[in-house]
This record gives sequence, structure tokens and C-alpha cells, in this order.
Amino acid sequence: RKIIHFHEVDSTNEYAKLIALDEREGTVVVADRQTAGKGRKGRTWASPEGGLWMSVILKPKAEPKHLSKLVFIGALAVVDTLWKFGIEAGIKWPNDVWVNGRKICGVLTEGRIGEFVILGIGLNVNNDAPEELRKMATSMREFLGREVSLSEVFHALIRNLDHWYRLFLNGRYAEIISALKERSIVLGKEVKIIDDETELVGRAVDIDVDGALILETPKGRVRVLHGDVSLRF
Ligand code: BTN
Repeated sequence: RKIIHFHEVDSTNEYAKLIALDEREGTVVVADRQTAGKGRKGRTWASPEGGLWMSVILKPKAEPKHLSKLVFIGALAVVDTLWKFGIEAGIKWPNDVWVNGRKICGVLTEGRIGEFVILGIGLNVNNDAPEELRKMATSMREFLGREVSLSEVFHALIRNLDHWYRLFLNGRYAEIISALKERSIVLGKEVKIIDDETELVGRAVDIDVDGALILETPKGRVRVLHGDVSLRF
């Protein structure tokens, strides 16, 4: 498989988008550090050396309605990788991985329908979270009390991504969703969903076949397709 490694790049997702049409599916772009790492919703993503900042170019032949499930592939692969290192992580729907109430990883998918999807993963490994986020973010090193081999983490993650992506390509969405539910840290909890201007409070009771979060609210059941979940309010 082709791995394009940078010491420094603006954003592995941005670079992957530029080359996506010319590269084969599965090509990985990885950087020691990013100067303009991107998070969801136009946020910046701190990406100093020591972390794992990577993007995979995917060209799935799947109906567009299934593409939103690719973000779960990233989160599931990260959780499996963390478990292998003894870190009991869970998924904060839809695209964060958390440990002990703090975020350790974010997943950002971008793409052009019918052409490609970029699956971007940012995992705090041996780096510190930025000062202002210390209470909300953690890293593998902080959890384990020692450094871990970034290349071991990288290769384990690639293997796990291959595993979940194969299920996706085979249309085994039910297995993906049930794994997502098993590893979810939001199910059963009172949550607040923030999406643009709207806020919704309720109890997260299920994730349906499409990957939507089902909330029980005072006004009845609501199906949420995207948004930021807040567990602290
Ligand atoms: C989020 O939680 O908001 C998603 C963060 C995604 C960060 C990764 S790091 C590798 C890839 N390149 C980027 O610029 N962003 C993603």
C-alpha cells in the first residue's frame, strides 16, 4: 500500500483531497505535524509532533446514503487499536473517541460523492493536548504513563481500518452499527445535541440502521442525523 509521509503539511485531509483522483484507493497520507489541522465545523485541530495525523483515500462503490457510516469505520478502528494498547476507549457518537470522560481522537470525513471519501483521523498519542483543552482532552501517553511507538499505533490502526472497511464494502452495515452501539458512551445518557442554531435535550436510547442517534425527549422520539453531543450540561 502507498503511504505518503510528510514531516509537515498543512492538513493531511487537504493534501489527500488534492491527490485523491490520481491515487488508488487505500493510499494513506500521514504527517508528523500539521500546520493547519482541521476539525469538524471549521474548527482547528492542534497537531503537534507526537500525535498521529492521517488521512485515507477511499473510493467506495456504495450508495451515497451509506457514506455517512464511513465515519464510524474510523472511530471503530481507533477504539480497537486503543483496546490493543490496554486503553478502554469508547465512541462518542458520531465521530469522537473518548477515554475516561475526555477526548483522545477525532474523525473527519470529507469527499465528493461518486469520486472519493477522505477519512481523516487525529489521535493524540505522545503529544500533549493544547493547554486550554487539558481538562477535555487526553492522549495515549497520558493514559498509560509512558510513550508508545507511533509506528506500532499507525500499523495497528491501518489493519483495523482494513477490517471495518471490508465489512462496509460487503454491505454488512448491521454489524457496523451493532459494534458502534456496543462501544458507544452516549447510549442511556442524558445528552444535549447542538447543531447549528438548534439545541435538543433528551435521553440517547438507540442508534438506528442508518447510524442516526435516537433521542427520547419530552416531545417524543427524535431521530438525529448529525450534531455535536454534549454529555456535560
Ligand atoms: C474533530 O474531532 O473535529 C475531527 C478532527 C480530525 C483531525 C484529523 S488529523 C488528520 C486529518 N487532517 C486534518 O486536517 N484533520 C484530520
